Amino acid sequence: MSFDRTSPFLQRLENRIDLRTIPFSERGSRLMLFRLNNHFAVRLAERWFKRAPHISAYRRRPPLVEKWFFTDGEGRPLPVETVTYPHKVECFTPAGRFTIAFFDAETLLVALPPGRTGMTFQAHLDEGHTDRRGGVLRLTGRVRRNLVYTTNARLTRNEIRSLGPELQELHVGFEARPGDALLLHITPRLGFNRWVPRPDGVIEEAARQWHEWFAAAPPVAEPLRDSYYYAWWIMRSGLISSRFYTTREAMMPSKVHYVGVWQWDAYFHALAYRHVDMKLAKDQIRILLDHQQEDGMIPDAVHDEGVVTRLSFPVEAEVTKPPLIAWTAWKLYEQDHDREFLDEIYEPIVRWNSWWFTHNDEDGNGLCEYHHPFSSGLDDSPLWDEGMPVESPDLNTYLCLQLEALAKIARAIGEREDAERWAVQADEIAGRMVRVMWDEASGYFWALHRGRRIHVRTPFNLFPLLTGRLPKRIADRLVAHLTNPEEFWTRYPVPTVARNDPRYDPLTMWRGPTWINVNYLLVEGLRRTGYGDVARALRDRTLALVGRHRDIYEYYHPETGDKPPKAAPTFGWSAALFIELAIEASRCR
Ligand code: GLC
Repeated sequence: MSFDRTSPFLQRLENRIDLRTIPFSERGSRLMLFRLNNHFAVRLAERWFKRAPHISAYRRRPPLVEKWFFTDGEGRPLPVETVTYPHKVECFTPAGRFTIAFFDAETLLVALPPGRTGMTFQAHLDEGHTDRRGGVLRLTGRVRRNLVYTTNARLTRNEIRSLGPELQELHVGFEARPGDALLLHITPRLGFNRWVPRPDGVIEEAARQWHEWFAAAPPVAEPLRDSYYYAWWIMRSGLISSRFYTTREAMMPSKVHYVGVWQWDAYFHALAYRHVDMKLAKDQIRILLDHQQEDGMIPDAVHDEGVVTRLSFPVEAEVTKPPLIAWTAWKLYEQDHDREFLDEIYEPIVRWNSWWFTHNDEDGNGLCEYHHPFSSGLDDSPLWDEGMPVESPDLNTYLCLQLEALAKIARAIGEREDAERWAVQADEIAGRMVRVMWDEASGYFWALHRGRRIHVRTPFNLFPLLTGRLPKRIADRLVAHLTNPEEFWTRYPVPTVARNDPRYDPLTMWRGPTWINVNYLLVEGLRRTGYGDVARALRDRTLALVGRHRDIYEYYHPETGDKPPKAAPTFGWSAALFIELAIEASRCR
């Protein structure tokens, strides 16, 4: 059986990868192939802090390879039409078809059409030499990379020209027989792939791996499938292999836009992986625990070259992310009942839990505060406009869920006394939120800055609903806000600031747009509190919102459903939680 030709999953995703904005990539790979008009570019999902320390410098860095054209036998660029699949890009030119596929995570294979053709590109590298079967280009200095090209076709031309200090131009011409190919190996390492395999075998192997990945996913209702398998494509192509501080194979929030492992993103990603690969799911948790600090703190993010535990903007403070690790770990356990995993992670999570209560409760009232806006994951939310620290209902809700999960974990591993204690503490923190933050007059839980209420209305002010521990009359008031069209029940709910709040801005990140993780958490909260109909309505609207687009984005306009200009493409947790909601919707309609 040929997966390349017959896999229904691969056929379903034909041309779904739009190379103008979405990279063709592969599990474990740092390579991202794009196409602009008739030429291609290869960017690397690597930050290169040693060259450019600014946190988003890699987004502006020129591609490693650009202006990559296929040419005719005379070196003239050819027009190209592409057809993309998860496992290959077919490039149709007047001189025949070139097919690009991954040989391994560092190596692209180009199957050449028989006859005389060629290829040219520019590479932002500073050295190069040719040899009998290809050549080697290098970046030297603080960051070292090698680009090695090798072909088994006869070379009719092979030239590297230097166009400047860090720009080389390559021209090659081929006289290819059927089955000849070119390898493009891009690597920081010093061992190069120069053995050219048979292209059919490489393409078939890539097809098989992708097919098996999709086939392992639980089936969902037909109308959801196009977006569902695309979401699974994101969940596999967004993975990078381990390197230095990136201690495990890990999912990027977006290979194009966010290179690194962010703490709470990793937890949402793990939820999706638990349906197909438990080790991968658990590794998303382990990579954060690998970097737990002496005092129990878990970093905001992990990059190849180090971890983020402190930032100096917009305020100088330690930075982490919402405590959802225990909540996630329990969901993983419910899937495979692996007690050993709970034993592995219990103590680190207990240390993390006590870090919150010992270092983040300045007024000692048993409710914690954020000291850095980014610790909330809601970077620019108006909740932080009045300054830090902020004692907020979302954080204390997560802590309640964490205590509840710790109680279940402790019980499962036989730590009975601990379990009792965590269960009591979970109830206590929920009670404290009601006493300190609940406002009967407005029907909101207010966040507090130095004891003063922050009067901005966000879904996070409704989050205590998630604890499942509120008196019914309070829960009813929260759900009334949530389902009020003037506030949160827009066409594509839930906006991250109430629509009728003066600070509502539907295009700016956490100041108005709809985020899939917020909806996912609310769906769960509504369900456990007994609002099954509202939960279903929110779930279905969320699925409809994601399903409107070819790609899956970081956040959405809550009224039009469109992509705000700055929202990242191929976004991990939106894909992961779309998967979650789609599976749930298909199980219980
Ligand atoms: C942004 C988000 C944050 C997320 C990170 C990576 O900073 O505000 O919540 O963890 O991107 O996706």
